[in-house]
Amino acid sequence: MEVIIKNVKEDACKLGAKIISCLIHDKENTVLGLATGATPLLLYKELVRFHKQEGLSFKKVSTFNLDEYVGLSPKDPRSFNSYMSENLFKHIDISPEAINIPDGCAKDVLESCEAYERNIHNAGGIDLQVLGIGNDGHLAFNEPSSSLSSRTRIKTLTKVTRKANAESFGGEDNVPKHVITMGLGTIMETRSCLLLAFGKKKAEAVKAMIEGPITASCPASILQFHQHAIILLDSDAASLLTRREYYMEVYAGKPEWQKWE
Ligand code: PGA
Repeated sequence: MEVIIKNVKEDACKLGAKIISCLIHDKENTVLGLATGATPLLLYKELVRFHKQEGLSFKKVSTFNLDEYVGLSPKDPRSFNSYMSENLFKHIDISPEAINIPDGCAKDVLESCEAYERNIHNAGGIDLQVLGIGNDGHLAFNEPSSSLSSRTRIKTLTKVTRKANAESFGGEDNVPKHVITMGLGTIMETRSCLLLAFGKKKAEAVKAMIEGPITASCPASILQFHQHAIILLDSDAASLLTRREYYMEVYAGKPEWQKWE
């Protein structure tokens, strides 16, 4: 794991957007995995800025989102489909056919999950997956106790997660109980991933992910096995890390050819 600690989330998101833009410069048909929630909002803002001010084009990029609520139509303003359109897609030049988001209204859920996995495979696999982490250590919507080799499927949200996502539904009782989510096995096959976590409320989950044992009780800890996981934190989210100084020393001493900034 490469752990990068910035003082504030604004700087972390600027770096995250730079990493993504370097990737797209190197490979114009990059396959991006995308996440929703509060965490990546500034990252998407910065990507829009790269597009509008620095000519970054998404014309050949394709995307796969991690998850969607079951029962919400793509047009529902609370769906992740709407979130992606509002916060990224409508501001950049991505082709609508290149956007993939799990279908929360699929009649045949099993078939649509299998098709999602096939589509990722047929696109050549995901080059970089953007991720957040739940307060309970979930990754995408893989809640604690998820199989560490799971694939895209239906999951039941925990109370902790429903509470964390209650605001846009006007209370946790209105948050859908079921979601479609990429599995941990699906995420582990991505060529690289970029996990963002900000704020004190994420500090415990971040510590468990990076320095705890690999366990289904903290699904994000599976990233310790990922071939190329970059973890971008602000100082609050990093505040419980035992090896914090070491991670900072490693980042400061990165060889020139590996540096993004
Ligand atoms: P958040 O959610 O970005 O809204 O904190 C992260 C997650 O649940 O993975």
